[in-house]
Amino acid sequence: MSSQKVTVSVIKADVGSYPGHGTVHPQQIEVAKTLLEKARKDGAIVDFFVTHAGDDLEFIMTHRRGENDKRVHQLAWDTFKEITDKVSKPLKLYGAGQDLLAEAFSGNVKGMGPGVAELEFEERRSDPVLVFMADKTEPGAWNLPLFRIFGDPFNTAGLIIDPALHDGFTFEILDVMEDQSIKIKCPDETYDLLALIGTSSRYVISKIYRNDGMPAAAASTSRLSLIAGRYVGKDDPVCIVRAQHGLPAVGEVLEPFAFPHLVAGWMRGSHLGPLMPVSMNDVQNRVTRFDGPPRVVGAGFQVSDAKLIGPADLFGDPAYDRTRQVANEITDYMRRHGPFMPHRLGPEEMEYTTLPEVLEKLKTRFKK
Ligand code: F6R
Ligand code: MG
Ligand code: MG
Repeated sequence: MSSQKVTVSVIKADVGSYPGHGTVHPQQIEVAKTLLEKARKDGAIVDFFVTHAGDDLEFIMTHRRGENDKRVHQLAWDTFKEITDKVSKPLKLYGAGQDLLAEAFSGNVKGMGPGVAELEFEERRSDPVLVFMADKTEPGAWNLPLFRIFGDPFNTAGLIIDPALHDGFTFEILDVMEDQSIKIKCPDETYDLLALIGTSSRYVISKIYRNDGMPAAAASTSRLSLIAGRYVGKDDPVCIVRAQHGLPAVGEVLEPFAFPHLVAGWMRGSHLGPLMPVSMNDVQNRVTRFDGPPRVVGAGFQVSDAKLIGPADLFGDPAYDRTRQVANEITDYMRRHGPFMPHRLGPEEMEYTTLPEVLEKLKTRFKK
């Protein structure tokens, strides 16, 4: 436990939703708030904010215990369990407890189903922290925006203009297939970085540091299908980005989301669709069309003596109306492909869905 530093932990899970995989139920949020408030009073955490992205329940927590802390992880796990038992199951919400893959808590929620992004840092005189939460997609969805924020001078003017950013950032990449990681230093190794992270289903950005070591961003990297060995929904990732004063400005962090890039997920976790930035309000923050399209909400805070001041609803702005309109046009265009690639994902990605069962039946009927 490190006393001076603050840790922001975002831990999320889909423990049931309505209708189908649409959104969370208000009672789930209420129970989460009650339990996390109790933990705050007990001193486990300093502050928290409970929200959701589509059907995923999101706990944004601050504390002094560092990353991978057993008490904080256990708190999240137990809270998800209790919400499942007290709300999701009695209301027969859809997919009650679906992301709680492990039988029992074993010290860290990583690899047990819930998604986790954590960042420990020395709080600056003023520390803006932005939390992004996506539904109906996978961790690789952050690769493009995170690269643009921390590696692309056409996005982030500060990389050119501000001497504090000019030396660049180091990206930690996780190979989710082999469970190994690599650090790549930019701008020197920008092309190597892109050679990896363009394969966003396999190479996923997990951490970003300024080249003097300052922690700048963290993203969740779990792939449920690789844990469970079968399709259990997409991983609906979260990420934490610090901003301003020697880091990309809030506006530079938000800029890449003005382009609704294609991400894997959407219906049955089997389709490419545009990532649509939406408001945290109930009208926009739930999936509908073809169980989508995939979407991202953004919550902006100041972390102040480990307290969360905020949130500001980052995409609840007319400045993102046009992005949503473009995303809807892309949705129309992609949907017209029906079951054909590249709208439907390629065979490697479909391996973890129910498609192989269908293909199995045809195997014996092929003739040479
Ligand atoms: C995508 C997702 C949904 C479901 C779909 C079918 O991540 O969760 O699109 O895959 O609604 O769900 P089941 O098989 O539960 O009827
Ligand atoms: Mg669901
Ligand atoms: Mg979800």
